[in-house]
Amino acid sequence: MEMNSRVPVVWLQFQDCTGCSESFIRSSQPKTENVLLQMISLEYSEVLSAASGYQVEASMEQVLKDYKGEYVLAVEGSIPSDSAFLTVGGKSQIDTLQQMAADAKAIIAYGSCSSWGGIPAAYPNPTGAKPVTSFVKNTPVIRVPGCPPIAEVMTGVIAHIITFGKLPELDQHGRPTAFYRHRIHDKCNRRAYFDAGLFVENFDDEGAKQGYCLYKVGCKGPTTYNACAEMRWNGGVSYPIQSGNPCIGCSEKDFWDNGPLYTRR
Ligand code: SF4
Ligand code: SF4
Ligand code: F3S
Repeated sequence: MEMNSRVPVVWLQFQDCTGCSESFIRSSQPKTENVLLQMISLEYSEVLSAASGYQVEASMEQVLKDYKGEYVLAVEGSIPSDSAFLTVGGKSQIDTLQQMAADAKAIIAYGSCSSWGGIPAAYPNPTGAKPVTSFVKNTPVIRVPGCPPIAEVMTGVIAHIITFGKLPELDQHGRPTAFYRHRIHDKCNRRAYFDAGLFVENFDDEGAKQGYCLYKVGCKGPTTYNACAEMRWNGGVSYPIQSGNPCIGCSEKDFWDNGPLYTRR
């Protein structure tokens, strides 16, 4: 199959921790360097662009002139309701989002912040943080939730667009079905213990040492759609449950307010 030429990408950051960018640069398949040097042309990124200041702002404006309808807009972080909370380069970042979204081929909402609002939208949500979809209506948005998403899922979505020249199949929430069709619970390595009724009751008990199911210590795997149990992290090495931690549902809407880390009061 013939690959299209490098697709221009503008990567905007909003209310974020840069964890999604950090995850992206650790992809092992496809390798991040292959994505950056052979598959995409990263025209603007606050983390990865070599240029800075006026030079990199000019680069983003040039994309609007040269690649109208052809570039992919990657969005990391949630968007505040009031533009006073976030300006970049002396400009409201909400205005920048709407300007860049209007002529993009597609928007990839990387992470739970841009997909759902994420941690910045956690109670009491002081900035009125919202997902990308609240500000963009006429450009297709692909949600790639996770806090952060798995590196190979992030690059895999871009690879699909470039290879096939179209968006991947999405579910009713706008997530690629290839990566979000299963619950963690469906593929969990501890599932046999769940079915057998063998549970960890406390993190230092015998069940924890034996690797029993983490449901009773807060695991959200039964209600969380993500590929962690299938693809695992760090190039397929492990994932939270395999390492002894309950899934906190980080790819689900409002995960921070719905525990098990914090309980909304
Ligand atoms: Fe950070 Fe998580 Fe938001 Fe990504 S989704 S920017 S990792 S808080
Ligand atoms: Fe399901 Fe969590 Fe138990 Fe795994 S550890 S079987 S995801 S409840
Ligand atoms: Fe997040 Fe649960 Fe995977 S916490 S990283 S969705 S196992």
